[in-house]
Amino acid sequence: MNDVIRIALTKGRLEKDTVNLFESMGFDVSAVRDKGRRLILPINGRGIEVVLAKAADVITYVEHGVCDLGVVGKDTIMEHGGKYFELVDLGFGKCRFALAGKKGTDFYKGYGVKTVASKYTNVTRAFFESKGMDVDIVKIEGSVELAPLLGLADGIVDIVETGTTLKENGLEVYENVAPVSARLIVNTVSMKLKKECIDRLVEMIEKELRNK
Ligand code: PRP
Repeated sequence: MNDVIRIALTKGRLEKDTVNLFESMGFDVSAVRDKGRRLILPINGRGIEVVLAKAADVITYVEHGVCDLGVVGKDTIMEHGGKYFELVDLGFGKCRFALAGKKGTDFYKGYGVKTVASKYTNVTRAFFESKGMDVDIVKIEGSVELAPLLGLADGIVDIVETGTTLKENGLEVYENVAPVSARLIVNTVSMKLKKECIDRLVEMIEKELRNK
């Protein structure tokens, strides 16, 4: 894949937003739009190959250098860490990490060790460590909002976008943890070996984002 730039996109919304961005840059995205069940698609005439993957796997493929670039949420970056460069804040996929729990309850009241449920245990650990606060963390795979409702946790650290899920389940944000948006990441070796191609693409992306 010498001259080809391979970019892994997080399947779903970030994939769609990136494809729209490429289209507004004048790229032929027809193959990606008509992808069917295919997972590797060309951007015709640009020497770019799009790879569709789950968020955490985008990071894995970029770290291992089998994809040069990746588009992934800051939430996954914060949770997984890893060795790659973060190049551009793409501005879409905006949401935030927040500490939330039952409405009207003071999370910080009392001296007992609190239990916090999250799909993002590393983000949760880092957040409470930065406060010097000891908490028990319970890993939940999805619909984390259930944990305080069922009495498993005093709070959750989760993604909040519109706030509707919290509201409709009688929960509220206690505190913001970190803002989240989509990022363009690059393999550290690709950044050297394919510098010219990558720089050119990043310049085009940044120009398009400025014009939005
Ligand atoms: C995410 C997040 C919240 C919801 C927030 O869940 O975990 O549940 O979206 O969005 P809102 O503020 O706009 O209501 P997702 O749909 O990714 O599924 P999950 O619960 O299985 O992680």
